[in-house]
Amino acid sequence: MGKSTHVLLALSASAAARTFTVTNACSYTIWPAVFTDLHAGTAVPSVETGWEAPPNSSRSFTVPDNWTAGRIWGRRDCNFTTNPGPTSCLTGGCNGGLLCDPNTGTGVPPASVAEWTLSGSGGLDNYDVSLVDGFNLPLTISNNVGCPVASCPVNLNPTCPTALKGPADASGVTVGCKSDCGVDPNPTNSPSCCSGTFSLPQTCPNTGVPNYTFFKSQCPDSYVYAYDESSGTALFTCPSSKQANYTLTFCP
Ligand SMILES: *[C@@H]1O[C@H](CO)[C@@H](O)[C@H](O)[C@H]1NC(C)=O
Ligand SMILES: *[C@@H]1O[C@H](CO)[C@@H](O)[C@H](O)[C@H]1NC(C)=O
Ligand SMILES: *[C@@H]1O[C@H](CO)[C@@H](O)[C@H](O)[C@H]1NC(C)=O
Ligand SMILES: *[C@@H]1O[C@H](CO)[C@@H](O)[C@H](O)[C@H]1NC(C)=O
Ligand SMILES: *[C@@H]1O[C@H](CO)[C@@H](O)[C@H](O)[C@H]1NC(C)=O
Repeated sequence: MGKSTHVLLALSASAAARTFTVTNACSYTIWPAVFTDLHAGTAVPSVETGWEAPPNSSRSFTVPDNWTAGRIWGRRDCNFTTNPGPTSCLTGGCNGGLLCDPNTGTGVPPASVAEWTLSGSGGLDNYDVSLVDGFNLPLTISNNVGCPVASCPVNLNPTCPTALKGPADASGVTVGCKSDCGVDPNPTNSPSCCSGTFSLPQTCPNTGVPNYTFFKSQCPDSYVYAYDESSGTALFTCPSSKQANYTLTFCP
């Protein structure tokens, strides 16, 4: 192949995009939010960093083939009228308000988060449903090429252990379930956060996370704590060559 052919191939490869569809199958409005860790990569989806999704609605957009360290989560019970920012939603709020700040707009825990790195090392897409920051909404990541489904399809709020329960809405219904790390009084040296003397996989087994089984037994295909890869059902991969398109469904 001549040099110009190489240039053309490189251009067409970087121009490739995936289609993502975010569906709100919940019976109430949610406000999906998108965040890209811009330290890891500059490619961002062709969608705003937040929007309102009425019940039973879907939105599709393209995502660059090399989206790196990207996350999408759902916010609920939002009102951005005054002081738009992290407290505008009962769960999942972000710096910025409706549009999450591109640099600092990660979600306030507890929030269940869908995470992707497309076309990562080894020619693989990596994706997971993370409960590392706790849980707020059930969600499922599916795809159109037969790769595994990542999910936490169960509403964990009603049965959330007392120590982790909350926040609640105005009528007292629990709408969030914190992670064990989220309630640890000493998060810098914690077997739940895998920090301090517990910072290595060998020193941070899942048996040190008090409510690990509560989360993992109900949501086996989710990423429950910092080193949950050892479970074998936390982080999923799909060959990038399949060019998978992904659907994220809230309240599947
Ligand atoms: C994914 O969507 C893109 C358009 O964004 C399309 O070109 C591609 O064929 C789709 N991939 C699969 C595997 O269906
Ligand atoms: C992704 O592709 C774009 C366009 O080719 C490029 O600018 C960027 O550096 C690539 N990598 C990441 C991680 O964003
Ligand atoms: C949800 O949307 C689909 C497709 O538009 C429609 O067939 C279905 O009846 C809707 N369900 C509800 C509960 O509104
Ligand atoms: C949002 O908050 C404003 C200011 O507190 C209030 O006036 C308004 O009614 C709220 N909107 C909704 C939909 O609750
Ligand atoms: C959940 O975690 C709390 C606080 O770490 C602990 O007190 C409680 O016993 C745990 N519950 C279960 C069911 O393990």
